[in-house]
Amino acid sequence: MAPSSTVWPLDPHTKAKHDILRSYLGGWYPVLSSHNGRIVFLDGFAGPGVYGGGEEGSPIIALKTLLDHGYLQNMSNCQIVFVFCENEPARLASLQEQIEQVKQEHSPFPKNVIIEIYGDSFSDSARRILDSLTEGDEKQNLAPTFAFVDPFGFSGVPVELLRDLVAYDRCELFVNLMVDHINRFATNPKVSQHMDDLFGTQEYMGVREVEAGKRVQFLHDLYRRQLSTVCKFPYVQSFAMYGKNGHLSYYLMHGTRHIRGVELMKDAMWKTDPGGGSAFHDRLAGMDVLFQLEPDFEPLLAGLRQEFGGRTTSIDEVESWVTLQTPYRKAHLRKNALTPMEKAGTLSVARPGKSGFPSGTRLTFD
Ligand SMILES: C[S@@+](CC[C@H](N)C(=O)[O-])C[C@H]1O[C@@H](n2cnc3c(N)ncnc32)[C@H](O)[C@@H]1O
Repeated sequence: MAPSSTVWPLDPHTKAKHDILRSYLGGWYPVLSSHNGRIVFLDGFAGPGVYGGGEEGSPIIALKTLLDHGYLQNMSNCQIVFVFCENEPARLASLQEQIEQVKQEHSPFPKNVIIEIYGDSFSDSARRILDSLTEGDEKQNLAPTFAFVDPFGFSGVPVELLRDLVAYDRCELFVNLMVDHINRFATNPKVSQHMDDLFGTQEYMGVREVEAGKRVQFLHDLYRRQLSTVCKFPYVQSFAMYGKNGHLSYYLMHGTRHIRGVELMKDAMWKTDPGGGSAFHDRLAGMDVLFQLEPDFEPLLAGLRQEFGGRTTSIDEVESWVTLQTPYRKAHLRKNALTPMEKAGTLSVARPGKSGFPSGTRLTFD
């Protein structure tokens, strides 16, 4: 499954993954840089930086999203550090070449943008980074980190290493869980150490008792639970990627400790899947029909009635509930739920201004 060549063609699901990453970082850089002196984007499995047709790889996307960002000029008080790990020499050389090109294109290169490239394995590089943090003035070196962990398979990604890497409060994780591959190998004794490390528990062995059609969901749920309990992310969202054969190939999972992170990731996921915000299918890629699908908002309306029916509450409370307890976005709440409910007379609105649902608005649901 892993290509043997230095670069390989870009699949539609990889483009979808990149779209989510680009969209998320476009929101993450300004939010984090305005409160911190230093932020880190870490790409643990960086790849060659380019695909067969010349398309950009994740490190270049992350860099250019910052360098071409309209807000960059306001980030001069923040150092933005890019850490790229790639352990295959030819891909590493390709990555270095791609980065040099970006530097030339963006000359004079901003002094507050630092690029560090590690040529050994993600786990060795990550341990080295963690050791250097504990050697120095620890507190000073801790920085909000967005760790993108995108391996080909399941080896070399111990959940306890991820835990250490994202231990600081404002760190986030965006990880590719190759569930199809994991499902095929989960009970193979030859890879049991990798599986133990990946999950940080042997409970994945329980997949043997699960009926065939539910195994991928079982592995998803277990890993998601580990991200919550081991890595201490109260909020974990996932996005399913289906390959050309129609099989669920992998999940992208995002862990954050802040509601703003949940909002930004939901926006990014819904942009890629306008019909539901949760999945991308290679088979449907490029078909316009995908982008005309209207999401079903009935579950949102029903949920609001069940949660808030018969009482008065603030717009802030309702927004938090939608963001954290439902798959929908804040924008859906206003446009597709509150506005039609008010028109239908099932919602009374006491608003500070003339229109909309600004902060301070009180809502009474029938
Ligand atoms: C799925 S590709 C990464 C694609 C890239 N993130 C992107 O979206 O453009 C995985 C990359 O990780 C590299 N790799 C494999 N094992 C590694 C390890 N243990 N440490 C660092 N890199 C590794 C592979 O050579 C490959 O280039």
